[in-house]
Amino acid sequence: MKEERNLRKVFNQHVKLEEYFTGFSVKSNKPAAVAPQQPPQPANSQNTDIATELSQLCKEVAACQKCVLGSTRTNPVPGEGNPKADLVFVGEGPGADEDAQGRPFVGRSGQLLDKIITNAMGLKRSDVYICNIVKCRPPENREPRPEEIISCLPFLKKQLSLIRPRVIVCLGAPATRTLLNTNKPIGQLRGKFHEFSIDDDSEPVKLMPTFHPSYILRNYSDDNRRKVWEDMKTVMVELGLPVPKK
Ligand code: URA
Repeated sequence: MKEERNLRKVFNQHVKLEEYFTGFSVKSNKPAAVAPQQPPQPANSQNTDIATELSQLCKEVAACQKCVLGSTRTNPVPGEGNPKADLVFVGEGPGADEDAQGRPFVGRSGQLLDKIITNAMGLKRSDVYICNIVKCRPPENREPRPEEIISCLPFLKKQLSLIRPRVIVCLGAPATRTLLNTNKPIGQLRGKFHEFSIDDDSEPVKLMPTFHPSYILRNYSDDNRRKVWEDMKTVMVELGLPVPKK
């Protein structure tokens, strides 16, 4: 009986969450797009080069055996999206669905992330770039270990240095703590921009920590969903995207 009540509670939470993120639509006549960072590039120029370098990096990820995850994974999950994205989402590491498909955020948390990107922010998944701090699935969905993160980090840094986004959204504590090199709780870090230096030669990029979609799915509350929405609105303002009043 208690189990049934709990199941119903979880189900209702998920329905509410779904409604929350489908409730937002960006009212704009223009197709949603991230404000351009640079004048349009001629075809077959820099964009193609970046895409080529990103796919080369995918091959390197596929060949990587620097940590134990290289031998336990089914497929590497290097990341995917717009090579010239102004906005990059960085998660923790692939789960079972991602491991099976070789694509980031395609399971339940991915469905929520898609809603945040499309319904709440008014973008398309193909407008942004999505990746993780580790590119191979940690078994049993455990958190990636420090040595795994350290050996995988050069891949993420290379991705960020090729894409050069204007904003990075870190989903959850492991991604945030890794990029900001801190142990502070995500609750203290989220809600404001931090600076992240991709390399010594360029201006720091704005980094917004927020809760991981799987945390929201597990700990649904009006307060948590409001916090994620506030974080995304701050990102949208920074990118010059229209923010719905609601
Ligand atoms: N959780 C993550 O952090 N990354 C994924 O790709 C999927 C789930």
